[in-house]
Amino acid sequence: MSILNGKKVLLGVSAGIAAYKTAHLVRQFIKAGAQVQVVQTPASKEFVTPLTLSTLSKNPVHSTFYNEEDENAVWNNHVDLGLWADLMLIAPATANTLAKMTNGVCDNLLLATYLSAKCPVYFAPAMDLDMYQHPSTKDSIAKLTSFGNICIPATSGELASGLIGEGRLAEPEDIVAFIEKNVQSKLPLKGKKVLITAGPTYEAIDPVRFIGNHSSGKMGFEIAKTAANLGAEVILVSGPSSQQINHSFVKRINVVCAEDMYNACHEYYKNVDVAICSAAVADYKPAVVVAQKIKKKDASLQIELAPTKDILASLGQTKEHQLLVGFALETDNEEENAKGKIQRKNLDFIVLNSLRDKGAGFAKDTNKITIIDKDFQAQKFETKSKTEVAGDILTFIIKKLNV
Ligand code: CTP
Repeated sequence: MSILNGKKVLLGVSAGIAAYKTAHLVRQFIKAGAQVQVVQTPASKEFVTPLTLSTLSKNPVHSTFYNEEDENAVWNNHVDLGLWADLMLIAPATANTLAKMTNGVCDNLLLATYLSAKCPVYFAPAMDLDMYQHPSTKDSIAKLTSFGNICIPATSGELASGLIGEGRLAEPEDIVAFIEKNVQSKLPLKGKKVLITAGPTYEAIDPVRFIGNHSSGKMGFEIAKTAANLGAEVILVSGPSSQQINHSFVKRINVVCAEDMYNACHEYYKNVDVAICSAAVADYKPAVVVAQKIKKKDASLQIELAPTKDILASLGQTKEHQLLVGFALETDNEEENAKGKIQRKNLDFIVLNSLRDKGAGFAKDTNKITIIDKDFQAQKFETKSKTEVAGDILTFIIKKLNV
């Protein structure tokens, strides 16, 4: 999954022949899972039609402050557009548009939107060779860069004029790849490795039966997705779960029982920065796994249970630089039990949820948590979706990592 998945991209198209490439550019953003809105300069409509761009972007194209032919015309709010966007890209950015951007000229909707945009702004210049080399263009690019805007440089090749040299709009695939890389490089968990356990474990009784629990894995998978979206390289060790994850930063390792989960965790633990144990690991397993299916008899059946290895506690014992986060699902005496676990398992903090809370528990889409750190400072959160809860937990982690 692209890092641009779900991101709101505002594409500004100015009037150069390379505008024809923006149809393909919009497709690339949509393919990456982004939402796209387009704002065109009026003159650029000669090069690529709003119909093409609105069809591909699945959104109306904006090009004027209001529709002059409509008596009841509505003002096209450039401030709203600028606020909507997670990122703005001006491509192609002509010499004219670049010069206007540097000077705060806003005689069209694209420029007014640029001036109101609060998000990162990328611009991809495209023009003829001599225009690209002109000191005024170089000056514009340098000035825009000093404003914090990010230049996606033009490339070399045959230009529409027939001349050969620098000035070609970067290829749409390369523009998207450039932005993806740039977005990634700024993510707070970039370069961090995070180990996450999720789901239940199944402890075999015989070849057919097992001891398991109701954990769906939802919470752990949401944490994995959110951490990956924040730039982390995630190792997700999951017990049997129907949850799906498709993210290029997430390596999923499927395990069945506590012993397998223990081994998988210890294989990766040494090299991770953070370990989050959200799995509902069985505390006991059958002392002996019967080789053949146990046959029904009239008498009652006793199964002797032996403790499983406590994965989280073992990670706590071998902790070096890692930030270690545990979960506690309690039914009574919640905070006291959670604090006990922080100490027993040598945790940096624990995420507590109580089965007494309505919005918390297995297989639900919501959760209600309290985060308690090793100094026993507690922070309570409202009932939220598990995606939002994952965001709260990772915000806490980012603060603790001091990144
Ligand atoms: N955990 C683990 N390995 C186990 C048992 C638990 O890694 N064998 C982890 C869970 O993933 C969770 C934390 O330990 O992060 C708390 O689990 P919990 O079952 O609530 O705690 P226990 O120590 O088993 O205590 P109790 O059952 O008495 O509540």
